[in-house]
Amino acid sequence: MRKGMLSVAAVAVALLPALTACGDDSASSANSGTPTRIGVILPDSKTSARWETADRKYLQQAFDAAGVKADIQNAQGDKNAFQTLADQMITNGASVLVMTNLDSGTGKAVIQKAKSQGVTVIDYDRLTLGGGAQYYVSFDNVKVGNLLGEGVAKCLTDKKAVNPVVAYLNGGPTDNNATLLETGYDAVLKPHFDAGDYVKGPDQAVPGWNNADAGTIFEQMLTGQPNIGGVVAANDGLANAAIAVLKKQKLNGQVPVSGQDATVQGLQNVLAGDQCMTVYKAIEKEAAATAELAIALAKGQPGTSNGTVRDPEANADVPSVLLEPKPIYLDNIKDVLADGYVTKAELCAGEFVKLCADHGI
Ligand code: BGC
Repeated sequence: MRKGMLSVAAVAVALLPALTACGDDSASSANSGTPTRIGVILPDSKTSARWETADRKYLQQAFDAAGVKADIQNAQGDKNAFQTLADQMITNGASVLVMTNLDSGTGKAVIQKAKSQGVTVIDYDRLTLGGGAQYYVSFDNVKVGNLLGEGVAKCLTDKKAVNPVVAYLNGGPTDNNATLLETGYDAVLKPHFDAGDYVKGPDQAVPGWNNADAGTIFEQMLTGQPNIGGVVAANDGLANAAIAVLKKQKLNGQVPVSGQDATVQGLQNVLAGDQCMTVYKAIEKEAAATAELAIALAKGQPGTSNGTVRDPEANADVPSVLLEPKPIYLDNIKDVLADGYVTKAELCAGEFVKLCADHGI
């Protein structure tokens, strides 16, 4: 039964390039009457700039290059909308669903429903715990966490900080990546706490990675512990929230803050000396690997993976494609530009014209 469905899908996909070649308006959603075979649900557009500026763009490019139609939608942080989008995609004939969950609970419900209808699911960037997706594509998130910890440690050394209090501003507690990240940075920093080099400061998660809430949370941290000397912020949005609070106390630049995603804002904060570092993840590769996998699966071909990731809740190893993250400091910001991830025009705008010139960018 399942085999039969897959071969029908394979024929449909094989026909797609021919069907879509003529006069499609290249919008991200299917609209020419051809059933969409691949559906993609992104999580939101506010917790990180990446989802709309990078993931959507690179996924679209990868599907376009293969001549395959994909319906790329964004749940805008709304769990009900997430489930509705998945239902619509399945009704419209998707045979593969690519999704970045908003939490494992709703993610799991969506995956179970999809699988019951013969739809293959790829967890994109975030693993759905207990979900049972057939594949997972992401970066090595423990490694990302290691880089955040190493970044703050390096900047504290550069600043010759003595016994600094290091605070953790963690990602959303229902995002498995936030757990992996903290595992990564704690592995680097705990030995420093144990050795008495650093003092462990407040350690708090930011629900849903909400950037505005991160400001309130960090403000409270700093009020309770005014001598915070370093901040491990789990992404550039949280970092920017912490930096805004530090600015009010004229502490920006003195207190190293980490970040992740190499967003324009994160890179500008690094240029300004307010952010110690960010982590660049080549989303183009993540999107390309996902599109390739999704297309193979939609054609009924076996997918390729380069390892497995443990789902501790399902007690299962999920076939995965995991990519390598890269730390970005002031001296290698150019690498992000060289990759075309951010353009010089975006980075070196307004007040950053001079800073770019000063740093040879
Ligand atoms: C992603 C990060 C992103 C964060 C907030 C995480 O799951 O891996 O790149 O910054 O979610 O959207």
